[in-house]
Amino acid sequence: MEKSMGKMVRYSKTFSLVYDRFMFILERMFFRSRRSRLLATVKGKVLEVGVGTGINFEHYTSEVNMTGIEPSPHMLKRAKKKRDLLLIPERFELHNIGCGYSEMEKLVAPESLDAIVCTLVLCTIPNPKEALLNFMKWLKPGGRLLVLEHIRSHNHTTGKMQDFLTPAWAKLAEGCQLNRPTDKMILEAGFELLRQEHFKIGIPFYEAEYQKKDLALR
Ligand SMILES: C[S@@+](CC[C@H](N)C(=O)[O-])C[C@H]1O[C@@H](n2cnc3c(N)ncnc32)[C@H](O)[C@@H]1O
Repeated sequence: MEKSMGKMVRYSKTFSLVYDRFMFILERMFFRSRRSRLLATVKGKVLEVGVGTGINFEHYTSEVNMTGIEPSPHMLKRAKKKRDLLLIPERFELHNIGCGYSEMEKLVAPESLDAIVCTLVLCTIPNPKEALLNFMKWLKPGGRLLVLEHIRSHNHTTGKMQDFLTPAWAKLAEGCQLNRPTDKMILEAGFELLRQEHFKIGIPFYEAEYQKKDLALR
């Protein structure tokens, strides 16, 4: 376990120190309103994957009980500070683990979650296909997967450019895969798309809501 944790904790102390400052303009221009809309309707038992410095916390309503996971202790330290400033911090339980860690099995029971939130994180998770299979297992039937992510462009030339830039970008941005086709992977994992909105910040991004099909309703 120790060995795999060493491999998977990517976010360094330096990156955690500059993350909020790096994101400041992007948040105001592009992400903040989308995070707010995405999380406004979330209720019940929620898993947030890779909470980072806790940028999403202020957007959850009082109807949410959130379990957050974050493998980087440096990012988690900052997230805990933000959590402790919230009105009812007890509603936010934070753990220093990530997708792919064996501890996840003990933390999340099958079909126990109303929603899973992934913002700017599916690009970094080492094994996204396995993570999506687990999300499917952990969500209740009808449970929702909410994402705000960049994706590989559906345009051939832009997609190729993303492929070219990814090795260098991944070194700068602590493993982020600029060209990951997250939108396709989520559909391939069997999620049903409820809503999506695409936008660009040089490369394509999207905000989307998916559902785990409730087979009992068919
Ligand atoms: C770009 S940051 C995004 C943080 C936050 N979700 C946001 O929207 O600002 C990506 C985060 O994913 C985390 N991460 C990396 N591998 C992970 C894994 N296997 N499981 C969960 N989170 C992971 C990183 O430590 C980092 O905090």
